[in-house]
Amino acid sequence: MPSFALPVLVPSLSAVWRSADQQTAYTRDASAYDTRTSAFEAYRRRLVDLVPLSRGDVVLDVGCGTGLCFEQVRSRIGAEGVIVGVDASRDMLAVAARRVADRGWRNVLLVQSPIEEAELPVVADHAIFCATHDVLQSTAALDNVVSHVSDGGTVAAGGGKWAPAWALGLNASILALHAPYVRDFTGFARPWTHLAPRLDRMRVQEVAMGGGYLASGTVPTREVPLVAGPIDRDDVRDGGDRADGTRG
Ligand SMILES: C[S@@+](CC[C@H](N)C(=O)[O-])C[C@H]1O[C@@H](n2cnc3c(N)ncnc32)[C@H](O)[C@@H]1O
Repeated sequence: MPSFALPVLVPSLSAVWRSADQQTAYTRDASAYDTRTSAFEAYRRRLVDLVPLSRGDVVLDVGCGTGLCFEQVRSRIGAEGVIVGVDASRDMLAVAARRVADRGWRNVLLVQSPIEEAELPVVADHAIFCATHDVLQSTAALDNVVSHVSDGGTVAAGGGKWAPAWALGLNASILALHAPYVRDFTGFARPWTHLAPRLDRMRVQEVAMGGGYLASGTVPTREVPLVAGPIDRDDVRDGGDRADGTRG
């Protein structure tokens, strides 16, 4: 039975290795997060490239963390677009807020909340999930996000996954890389599994020798179309967010 031995073994190993909960990991690592995950930057770019962004678009960045996707998204949507970054971790969002302030961006709204219960002030044109395995395993989170993306909008997700079970060395590296940032490795062989049925035209590419993936699809047309709104874009652009950049 070697084909499933590693994925079964690895979650229990990681649970032993990591006694702190996920919130604690993000609290401890928030200031070092950008440096520690810089190797992932090329995949962040490829993930954002999957989304047909246009100037003026509203984009949900789910589990935005320190805002490492903001620069690329903003370069495509311009100052007239809006990024809504949602994250449960106050410490990760504090780094994101500094990034936004340092760049002088006036069109980024940060929402501190578990995405499952976030009150999103927006129907977005598109949504991204970058390195957010735990969020992708939460059907409540996916339902909340998809219900806030307009018909035909693109939802893109990318991050780590298990390589084939025979690639033991590679999977050991994947475990070491992702363990600080993944609460539960359940579903790590196909992290997009719960997202796929919620979207049309879902396409998945494996990257990094099977140790990562990039996936995207479009939000199906509803019986009653969901159109952009009710966000008050002027409110966001005029600095409707708090001085520290957050709204929670
Ligand atoms: C590995 S980081 C990814 C950050 C960023 N997207 C990137 O590309 O680097 C995962 C983020 O998801 C956030 N997160 C995890 N579960 C969440 C949830 N249920 N709701 C909102 N954010 C969550 C964590 O706080 C963390 O900042």
